[in-house]
Amino acid sequence: MRGKRVDGASGRGKPIEVRLNGQPVEAYEGETVLALLILHGERAGAPERGPFCNMGVCHDCLVTLSHSDQAHPREARACLTAATDGMSVFIGPGGRR
Ligand code: FES
Repeated sequence: MRGKRVDGASGRGKPIEVRLNGQPVEAYEGETVLALLILHGERAGAPERGPFCNMGVCHDCLVTLSHSDQAHPREARACLTAATDGMSVFIGPGGRR
């Protein structure tokens, strides 16, 4: 996935462990969950729409998140949520779960 990230000029956070639908994916501190979805060719939301505004308004980027320090998974807008170490992101085929 190097080809889709800006290298060099912007600096990058530390590598973190994130799973996307159960599979480990390359991720760095400071990236949003939506950035990870785009980088890995996935999309959240309804299949005919997908993420639209990238600023928390449309809710078309909803995903289910779980983390080892949380008791229950929760839904969140991928465009407003920073990826964190140990996070698991779930989306269904063609959209959210
Ligand atoms: S893309 Fe619109 S709320 Fe996330």
